[in-house]
Amino acid sequence: MVDYIYYLKEVLIAEKDLQARIAELGAAISHDYADSTNLLLICILRGGVMFLTDLMRHITVPHAIDFMAVSSYGVGGRESQGAVRIKMDLMTDIRDRDVLIVEDIVDSGHTLSSVMQLLSTRKPKSLHICTLLDKEERREVEVPVRYRGFSIPNKFVFGYGLDLDELFRNLPFIGVVDLRKYDA
Ligand code: IMP
Ligand code: MG
Repeated sequence: MVDYIYYLKEVLIAEKDLQARIAELGAAISHDYADSTNLLLICILRGGVMFLTDLMRHITVPHAIDFMAVSSYGVGGRESQGAVRIKMDLMTDIRDRDVLIVEDIVDSGHTLSSVMQLLSTRKPKSLHICTLLDKEERREVEVPVRYRGFSIPNKFVFGYGLDLDELFRNLPFIGVVDLRKYDA
């Protein structure tokens, strides 16, 4: 089994910087939702898991959590155009709730744009996005990101929830993949 060091070109965001920023995001969310009585954090599996569990430690407003898994349609030229397949749906009825989607990274925006469309049909009281990472220059469809941890350049990254063939989600930092060693 090859170690993560082999694929690591550079550390993009160190653990202490991630944790400091996540504390700030938690404080902002706690402030903005201070009057909410039914906040629900929705984690998009699997990449958002590390972020969710660290973020919720900094949210002082009582809140519930739930999970969903989606996959984008279309490969190559035929992009998803607003369609995602739900692989695992929520267990919670989100009607009239304050819903905050917690995601690892927004890239083209297709995934979250579709998730937003889908969830809004279920009539939540409010619906917003918190993403740890944002590759803004890659955006193809507009996504209303309310909380953003870091804007990052167009580089393939892994660690802290993001995987390389399902491995290395446990790393406590965000690393850039060495594409000479990994066929993305
Ligand atoms: P979007 O629909 O193009 O915004 O894609 C978002 C999804 O692409 C994320 O949830 C990730 O699963 C994946 N993704 C985008 N960029 C990266 C990356 O640099 N590393 C790992 N996964 C990524
Ligand atoms: Mg993801």
